[in-house]
Amino acid sequence: SAPVLARVVDALAADGWCEMPGYLAASDAAALREEAIARDRAGRFRPARVGRAGGAARVLAIRGDDILWLDHDDPSPAVRRALAALEALRAALNEALFLGLVELEAHLAVYPPGAGYGVHLDRFRDDDARVVSVVLYLNDAWRPEDGGCLRLYLGGAESPPVHDVAPHAGTLAVFLADRFPHEVLPARRARYSLTGWFRRRS
Ligand code: OGA
Ligand code: MN
Repeated sequence: SAPVLARVVDALAADGWCEMPGYLAASDAAALREEAIARDRAGRFRPARVGRAGGAARVLAIRGDDILWLDHDDPSPAVRRALAALEALRAALNEALFLGLVELEAHLAVYPPGAGYGVHLDRFRDDDARVVSVVLYLNDAWRPEDGGCLRLYLGGAESPPVHDVAPHAGTLAVFLADRFPHEVLPARRARYSLTGWFRRRS
């Protein structure tokens, strides 16, 4: 909705990051979770790789998630609705902040129990097209003891202060891709999300 978009835009302008519970309606998050679980069971996810295709980039972090890249004409209405909700944010950011974000690239991700992603930045040294990182979480009844928080290092270095985002269904985490080192803490349950990046022309 417009007020929620405005809050995310304002937070991003002021702080460079935002945690927005309920960005995706509970029913939409549940439908997308079921879709992700079905595709995972069907063997459609692939191990995520560190660095760019071709392996040219320095290894920045260890990551244990499996991913499935998405297209905008995905056959699942649940996928298309989530991508549309993110496209609305891309438009709002462009309108308010003139960021020139021309596209959204997105994948589903599952972190199997015990998997995480060490501290990293989402911008590659030789590709600065990723401007804003967005993560929509899909997990039902997530408890603190399940772990799996996204830890944002707010000062730009790998030291406090930090902000932890629990991966509750419908919560959106947004942050400037080149500014905030972050990590995914290991979880005790499978952890599902839709992760994306708003890109500028590179
Ligand atoms: C990533 C990432 C964060 C999360 O995929 O680059 O940092 O909370 N994901 O899943
Ligand atoms: Mn990341």
